[in-house]
Amino acid sequence: MADLLGDLRRTHHLNQLTAADKGKEVVLMGWVQRRRDHGGVIFVDLRDREGITQVVFNPETDAKMHEKAHTIRSEYVIAVKGMVDERPDGMINKNLFTGEIEINVQELKILNEAETPPFLIEDRVETSESIRLKNRHLDLRRPSIQKNIIKRHKAGFAARKYLNDNGFLDIETPFLTKSTPEGARDYLVPSRLHQGNFYALPQSPQLFKQLLMIAGFDRYYQIVKCFRDEDLRADRQPEFTQIDLEMSFVGEEDVMSMAEGLVKTVFKEVLDMDIKTPFHRMDYSEAMDRYGLDKPDLRFGLELVNLSEILKNTGFKVFADTLKKGGLVKALNAKGCASFSRKDIDDLTSFAAIYGAKGLAWIKVKEDGEWQSPITKFFSDEERESMKNALSMEPGDIVFFVADSPSVTNDTLGNLRNHLGAKLGLVDNNRYEFLWVTRFPMFEWDEDEKRYQALHHPFTAPLESDYDKIDKSPLEVRSRAYDMVLNGSEIGGGSIRIHQPEIQEKVFSILGMEREDYEEKFGFLVDALKSGAPPHGGLAFGFDRLVMILCQEESIRDVMAFPKTQKGTCLLTNAPSKASFAQMQELGLKTAVKEAKEKEEE
Ligand code: AMO
Ligand code: AMP
Repeated sequence: MADLLGDLRRTHHLNQLTAADKGKEVVLMGWVQRRRDHGGVIFVDLRDREGITQVVFNPETDAKMHEKAHTIRSEYVIAVKGMVDERPDGMINKNLFTGEIEINVQELKILNEAETPPFLIEDRVETSESIRLKNRHLDLRRPSIQKNIIKRHKAGFAARKYLNDNGFLDIETPFLTKSTPEGARDYLVPSRLHQGNFYALPQSPQLFKQLLMIAGFDRYYQIVKCFRDEDLRADRQPEFTQIDLEMSFVGEEDVMSMAEGLVKTVFKEVLDMDIKTPFHRMDYSEAMDRYGLDKPDLRFGLELVNLSEILKNTGFKVFADTLKKGGLVKALNAKGCASFSRKDIDDLTSFAAIYGAKGLAWIKVKEDGEWQSPITKFFSDEERESMKNALSMEPGDIVFFVADSPSVTNDTLGNLRNHLGAKLGLVDNNRYEFLWVTRFPMFEWDEDEKRYQALHHPFTAPLESDYDKIDKSPLEVRSRAYDMVLNGSEIGGGSIRIHQPEIQEKVFSILGMEREDYEEKFGFLVDALKSGAPPHGGLAFGFDRLVMILCQEESIRDVMAFPKTQKGTCLLTNAPSKASFAQMQELGLKTAVKEAKEKEEE
């Protein structure tokens, strides 16, 4: 194979040359974006990571070369040597950094041909995402995705520098490990040497970073892959990246201000934007009360109003029954939206049903102040007056109500609020509203498993002032956890940890674990806590989500080089795929399904 490059070496990238370079001899290399023939003269837009430069093949310069330029197609890889020329008046392209110049080519080398791509390498592709993911190497050539990936690099680099400057050590932790409970299913890896045993891929480095604090490393960070087998959405991937950090001898405020500093630095470096710190803080209970979600989008109002007190004796049976059962009745006022049609309301009712609501009651306030609604008749004058005040109901408004268990009511109205915020254009996409949500409950009741679950993870410390309630009313105990929320997205979360072994054992027992259970699973942690553990705490950012917001994208798939589909497959490599019989045999794998069948036959 001849060395195609010969002694040609690139002198510039393709977003560099301007009129100031006129007359220079340059060597450029890249991909053919477009070829246009104009009465003999051939124009080619040459593209690389940085941009586009126009190169020109003139038959008078070299007839043979010109002939060869005719064979060039989109996505061919070429090298050209030529002179920088100013473009003639009228040909200047103000939209292009290099739009003042073109290269008058003297030498052309075709470094590689390319098959016709299945879609044009342009930002506004209309191809389905599955075709793009199948041809991800081509999709990644599109300038907008390249920009995202470059921003991702810049964000990671800025974070590393910030953490390094603040005394954090980058320490790797194992991928082949034991399960760490972050609330999702584990990915398991069978062990060949210990047949019948499995490693779990880490859902996060949580336990290892705590061990590093106990070992005395003081401050740790890692930009690290985490693996969670859960239902996927636009902001969830089975493997995703965290900026994970942990600090010794700290309280909440220390970790939170360190994390704020990191975000501030990243926004400055990537977007040249100044973010104001400290961020607003809100207790979990307030977030749920006013917004229905633990990650409220503060870019718009539309707050929820709790009507449970006002309607406690109401004649509307649905509401009254709900309240009697310990449920909640809440509402939100969509100001000025009384013009919503029957269909609009039906659509919103279907939307509410997604979150489990059994209905979506509404009241329109007509121009004359009269109420129009299927449920008005059930309310007393007093109730009407109180609702009107609580919800600031004015002519032209429509109010939506949900009555259900606290979780369904909040979840439905919280999501309806976001939905209406977007639908009504209330969200300013250029605003960044940061928020810390703090003092989460320690535990939640899992109705399916009939036991308490940790809301954050089992290593989060309880709030000292609530600790005496841990045996009698665990649901009332709040934790020292905090989440960083940006524009309605949870971009990070962490907590101050339990560093006293007896408290850790108590929490395991509230979570329904017997001593044998937790000793088997987390004995190493309890032992470590008994060996002199400093008070410590930390946090992990969802790096993909942070970058998604920096890039103003809707999906984390657009900021990951090789994401998986919603079904967890990689269309490029076709993973996951079948293992060969020999591989399975070597691992000693006998599928559970097969084993169950054999048992049946016995
Ligand atoms: P947590 O489980 O809250 O905390 O995760 C931290 C952050 O990671 C992001 N994230 C995800 N991003 C993409 N796809 C997913 N499937 C996914 N799951 C989570 C979120 C989230 O805020 N060990 C603790 C941190 C700590 O306590 O220090 C942990 O992992 O943005
Ligand atoms: P119904 O009495 O079932 O015809 O309902 C009257 C109105 O109340 C309808 O608009 C329903 O959508 C609404 N509705 C019914 N159940 C609920 C509920 N749990 N929460 C809010 N609205 C409800």
